[in-house]
Amino acid sequence: MILFVTLQKAIYDALCNILREQKMDDHLLKERLNELKQSPYIKLPFIYDHNFIAGAVDSFFNFLDLPQEIKNFIDLKVSPRHRRGELGFRHRHSADDIYSDDKEFFHFHPLIFQNYGEFIEQNQVVSDFLVKANKIWLAVDELIDQIMRIYDQTFPGCKAKIFNQDPSHIVLRFLKYSWKNSSEYLAKPHFDSGSLTLALAESSPGLRIGSGPDDLQIITHEDKQALFFFSSNYKKIINSDEFLPAWHDVVQTDDNQIGKPCSRWAVVAFIDGNNVESLPRSETHKYSK
Ligand SMILES: [Fe+2]
Repeated sequence: MILFVTLQKAIYDALCNILREQKMDDHLLKERLNELKQSPYIKLPFIYDHNFIAGAVDSFFNFLDLPQEIKNFIDLKVSPRHRRGELGFRHRHSADDIYSDDKEFFHFHPLIFQNYGEFIEQNQVVSDFLVKANKIWLAVDELIDQIMRIYDQTFPGCKAKIFNQDPSHIVLRFLKYSWKNSSEYLAKPHFDSGSLTLALAESSPGLRIGSGPDDLQIITHEDKQALFFFSSNYKKIINSDEFLPAWHDVVQTDDNQIGKPCSRWAVVAFIDGNNVESLPRSETHKYSK
């Protein structure tokens, strides 16, 4: 256990040094962030390329092959007041859920290492997945830290709402969609329930983003570029009307994927304030019919 923690610390220190060296210039980042007043999303450089993230997703798929009792062993909440703050594995069936999309996902946060270190150390497949997830999480944390430092100049105190607890309130979601029937949506249109979202990678195009239902457009992911956007609850962090939260959905663009075990995967980070209430579904899905 001590060796495992020491190893994690060594990986963490080495990664932080690399991330700091590869940071985007503050001035340039500030200009890009300003674009969010006209556009519901922007693209930002991200340190890890598609292949690296796809490698972590492969490890996630190996995790999904584990017995249920191992997959379900990690189960905690990053904040009790969050509608979607649960950490660990979830399988959401379309038939028994209001969201009508069938998917398996894992929510990662470094709290998992603090609470389940021994379990992780004893399960190689779990460890392999979570160590890779942790590397991506750290890169997200570093980028969000820089973004919030810039916003803090205009909206003092906003950075602390995410970073006033250690580790910060950032949850990394690994997502696998199953698509057994022909249907327009893999994910129905919605605003994310958090405050900010960083969409890191997806297996194929399908994500559509707009300011509302009338201007949704298919987004093309570019390598080493993450999509950054405001989500429904952003005013709990930045109390301003200047920004456009991103209304989005996921559509199946490839008919050949019907009936395949995995129609699509995506890796997304959800960023929120600590101990803020999420908005009700009537707000996050307000344009849904
Ligand atoms: Fe979403």
